[in-house]
Amino acid sequence: MAGDEALANRLALDLVWPLADGVVREDERAMEATGLILKHLIEQALPSRKSGDRVHAAVGVPAQASINNKKALLDVTEGTVDKLLIVSEAFAVAYAVDRFDECLIVDIGAGTTDICRMHGSMPEPDDQVTLKIAGDFLDAEITRAIHEKYPEVQLTPQIIRRIKEKYGYVSDTSDPIRVTLSNRGIPAEYDITDIMRESCLQMTRPIAAAVQELVGSFDPDFQADLRQNIVLAGGGSRLKGIDLAIERSLKAYGGASADCVQDAEYCGCLGALKMCVDMPEEYWERI
Ligand SMILES: Nc1ncnc2c1ncn2[C@@H]1O[C@H](COP(=O)(O)OP(=O)(O)OP(=O)(O)O)[C@@H](O)[C@H]1O
Ligand SMILES: [Mg+2]
Repeated sequence: MAGDEALANRLALDLVWPLADGVVREDERAMEATGLILKHLIEQALPSRKSGDRVHAAVGVPAQASINNKKALLDVTEGTVDKLLIVSEAFAVAYAVDRFDECLIVDIGAGTTDICRMHGSMPEPDDQVTLKIAGDFLDAEITRAIHEKYPEVQLTPQIIRRIKEKYGYVSDTSDPIRVTLSNRGIPAEYDITDIMRESCLQMTRPIAAAVQELVGSFDPDFQADLRQNIVLAGGGSRLKGIDLAIERSLKAYGGASADCVQDAEYCGCLGALKMCVDMPEEYWERI
């Protein structure tokens, strides 16, 4: 992938991060970078595209993306995309798994966690919450915690992400986690069992609190349905034990059932694609 290639060559490059907090960064170079990535994606997806073929694209944004963020998207896609559908990421997940009746979608991505209460009709603003607490936040937490205990070790975003995706957990117990890290070039083993759990809890606690809030403020007749139908998606839903942790956080509310979707990272994309096919013309933004 282009991103992996860029990271592999990062010492020779001037890297620009296109996104922050789940939206396009509103900075000239970041917007240019996002536009180029999009162009590259379209070329990869449609290799035999002829001039005159029109491109319709659906782009997922956090539920609470601002009008400015959406305008930035329109600017970035101008020239590459003919029509644009801007969809709430959590709603795209609901669409993918065909869950429009009472359920709670929790999409834990890199920049944001998007939580959306579904109840048959289109979700309203107070059915949705966006937290800037997700994978990137967890990476920063783990980095901070490792450096606090072992100030001398050398860490990079790639090392942290690999460790997190392999060992991250919020269950009560875990096998000891020992990783080899470099101390000024000299490799040594470090125990990060407790660091890992405590850091991961820093991410899951606020998510659980937001879930409690959306359950607690819902029509009491349907709260049980919400609690029993929690759908976890996004790369962050792969964290070991997160489903049980969310269920446990709703014990005092009467218990819950939370399940991770099959295709954590791509579920939202599949939903967005389905929406493209189903959506009548008037919902599309003309560029
Ligand atoms: N096993 C795992 N445990 C914990 N986190 C994981 C795991 N696998 C992937 N992730 C994390 O999931 C995140 C990526 O998820 P996803 O692809 O859903 O994000 P995104 O849709 O690109 O971001 P956003 O929704 O914020 O725009 C990354 O932070 C990644 O490190
Ligand atoms: Mg996402």
